[in-house]
Amino acid sequence: MANWLENSVFYEIYPQSFCDSNGDGIGDIPGIIGKLDYIRELGCNALWLNPCYLSPFGDAGYDVADYCQVAPRYGSNEDLEHLFQEAHKREMHVILDLVPGHTSTEHPWFKESSKAEENPYQGRYIWSDSVWRDVADYEGITGSLRGLFLRDGCVAVNFFSNQPALNYGFANPKEPWQSAVDSPEALETRQAMKDVMDFWLSKGCDGFRVDMAASLIKNDEGHKETMKLWQDMRGFLDKNYPDAVMISEWGEPDKSLMGGFHMDFLLHFGPSHYMDLFRCEHPYFSREGRGDASLFVETYKKNYRLTEGKGMICIPSGNHDMERMRKFLDPEEMKMAFAFLLSMPGAPFLYYGDEIGLRHLKLTSVEGGYNRTGARTPMQWNCEKNYGFSEGEREMLYTPQDESEDAPVVSEEMLREDSLWREIQKLIKIRRKYPALCASGGIEFLYCEPEKYPLAYLRRAGEEEILVALNPSGKEVCCKCPYEVKERIYTLGKPAKREAGVLCLPAESAAFLKCAGNGGKKYN
Ligand code: NOJ
Repeated sequence: MANWLENSVFYEIYPQSFCDSNGDGIGDIPGIIGKLDYIRELGCNALWLNPCYLSPFGDAGYDVADYCQVAPRYGSNEDLEHLFQEAHKREMHVILDLVPGHTSTEHPWFKESSKAEENPYQGRYIWSDSVWRDVADYEGITGSLRGLFLRDGCVAVNFFSNQPALNYGFANPKEPWQSAVDSPEALETRQAMKDVMDFWLSKGCDGFRVDMAASLIKNDEGHKETMKLWQDMRGFLDKNYPDAVMISEWGEPDKSLMGGFHMDFLLHFGPSHYMDLFRCEHPYFSREGRGDASLFVETYKKNYRLTEGKGMICIPSGNHDMERMRKFLDPEEMKMAFAFLLSMPGAPFLYYGDEIGLRHLKLTSVEGGYNRTGARTPMQWNCEKNYGFSEGEREMLYTPQDESEDAPVVSEEMLREDSLWREIQKLIKIRRKYPALCASGGIEFLYCEPEKYPLAYLRRAGEEEILVALNPSGKEVCCKCPYEVKERIYTLGKPAKREAGVLCLPAESAAFLKCAGNGGKKYN
């Protein structure tokens, strides 16, 4: 069942900015198809596409106007089906972005719902029973729209003001206008979302990244009802599409995985301490050596203990909502960050452009991106016009590109032997070769002290045991190593040395060491 996640390394594509095949300055699906071999060569074998549906693009497509129609600027539904087929030919999987919490105000469901007359869509969104009664003060509702429609009521919004909240009900309805989770209207919304999943899965899509997965049921303390809702969705998948996966944007694996998700992301929000690693004043993976990974590891261990066997935890390199890793780390430091990302359990996610250290640019907001816009710039493929992204005029591009003299480009990174690109390619190959390094191999942390280096952990699958030791800091560091080393399978920087039960790692070095494989028995 959905066991393809075990060997998957995902590549996230922001469709606007990946590859423009028709010269309109915006990336498209034929452009993505043309780059599948590139992605495969890097080593990634699964794709996540940000929303590519019909939309007024007030939030870059997360404001959907039709869940079952590809936005013309990206191509047609046939193009998307073609992408699924071409990916499958190359033994790759494709997941789409499911945005179940809200639509755009232009969605026909919403247009109906906002009419004064009774109609079948009245209960599709969360409306109060009078324009004077606000809905904004409830857990999970980010604001409301008032006085814009003929219907007498306020409607809840789920994120930006152009994203009205779909109605899946309230955990404990207290007002007459609040639906119960099992009310006919809440169940209809749920069914409508299953229909959307069914539509794309039947066309060859392999699953979904689920946007704001925790947000569906309002006033839901502890997310109990939200978890039940997702278990129901998972039941639907298991019955009809047992190979399909659901990956949540939630950030609390102890809840999301109980809710039936196959994997959950640790992200820039929530309690994960993900930002301590790559994006803060003193990131752990910076060579200045002033970082602290201990709180991240503590929360990771807790989540791992609570969820073991129930699903996976994913640590992405970045995504379209956070600043680029390159803003905080240089390409050499990023190699170390990838040695970590590609040796952790769960299926890794690489954000397009991170493989060449694409920079974060300071830009004016585009399509509701605000500070996120700088992480959404067009890919830099080569040194030709618009870095090979588009044949269109420069002014037409989705956003400006990096104008610095040393702007990274794919063609050069692929050629240069010591590039970040090559290191990532090498790391992915190694990961695939050893089951212990793949998604469900076990993990045991050996060394991670507050404000100290290195970070060391043991990955295990059956008899195979691999010790991963990372020293991003600019000084040599040592830690106890009670395992007998059999073979070095990966070295970054100068090689580590083990003597008398102590492992010493030179400055800015990483080592993957195959151990005796004796089921965890320690040596001195
Ligand atoms: C999370 C998405 O990743 C983000 O880009 C979007 O703006 C919000 N959810 C709202 O859908």
